[in-house]
Amino acid sequence: MENNVLIVGASGGIASALIEQYRSAGAKVFAVSRAAASESNNLENVSYHQISEQNDKHICGFVKQLAEQDVVLNTVVITTGFLHNENDGIHPEKRLEDVSEEALTAYFATNSIIPSIWLKHLVNVMSKEGSTLVCLSARVGSISDNGLGGWYGYRASKAALNMFVKTASVEYKRRLKDVMLVCYHPGTVDTGLSKPFQKNVAAKKLFTPEFTAKQLVHHLSALDREQACHFIDWNGEVVTW
Ligand SMILES: NC(=O)c1ccc[n+]([C@@H]2O[C@H](COP(=O)([O-])OP(=O)(O)OC[C@H]3O[C@@H](n4cnc5c(N)ncnc54)[C@H](OP(=O)(O)O)[C@@H]3O)[C@@H](O)[C@H]2O)c1
Repeated sequence: MENNVLIVGASGGIASALIEQYRSAGAKVFAVSRAAASESNNLENVSYHQISEQNDKHICGFVKQLAEQDVVLNTVVITTGFLHNENDGIHPEKRLEDVSEEALTAYFATNSIIPSIWLKHLVNVMSKEGSTLVCLSARVGSISDNGLGGWYGYRASKAALNMFVKTASVEYKRRLKDVMLVCYHPGTVDTGLSKPFQKNVAAKKLFTPEFTAKQLVHHLSALDREQACHFIDWNGEVVTW
């Protein structure tokens, strides 16, 4: 059976490693990014699709195209997310006075709403014979694990994402049966997203995107598929909600 994989946020550090991991294992990869394809995206087994503005209309249009081409997806990894944005002057908040409407809006729009809209539409093109949808979340989105505070927008937007995934998993299971949704904490990974925050991270705890992609694929294959929704970390350990 063909293994069709969709990776959203394709230009990102973890997404790029996942694309390589899946395509070199023989999967057919659909890679979606805001960015236009470049020469380096021209890879065997990969079709690259640009959606510059990821809203309901454009995501719906892309998923409809897949359906019209009779594409059935087995695995989806939505990597979309941001922690800081230098252009817009958005940095994780240290204290309440740092919280702003603009930053909160941006965090929720990218980290919660875009992945949720993908889940809304993808239910129509997932395989009924075993499919898995993963959203890259973060441990800091765990409500029960929050001892440190701070990072209001990022934490709250990842917690909202987790709630959407968990809620959607109930309906996905009802509609597709053999399906599993996963919120995944990749650990601290050496990408643009974590760059400004790496100096206090021990070298052995700063993972390469390649290691991260291998761990993710490995842990997905070991999860209990009877359980509709999981929240796990890079080591395969359960993260409490
Ligand atoms: N790196 C870490 O240490 C770490 C730790 C915990 C969790 N995570 C999570 O892992 C995921 C991937 O992170 P990464 O480290 O690979 O970061 P990255 O290299 O910055 O990739 C994130 C991708 O998200 C997409 N994105 C960002 N802003 C967007 C926007 N406004 N609209 C639509 N798409 C947008 C972009 O994809 P396109 O431009 O290609 O569309 C971007 O390449 C994120 O969800 C992040 O929160 C990362």
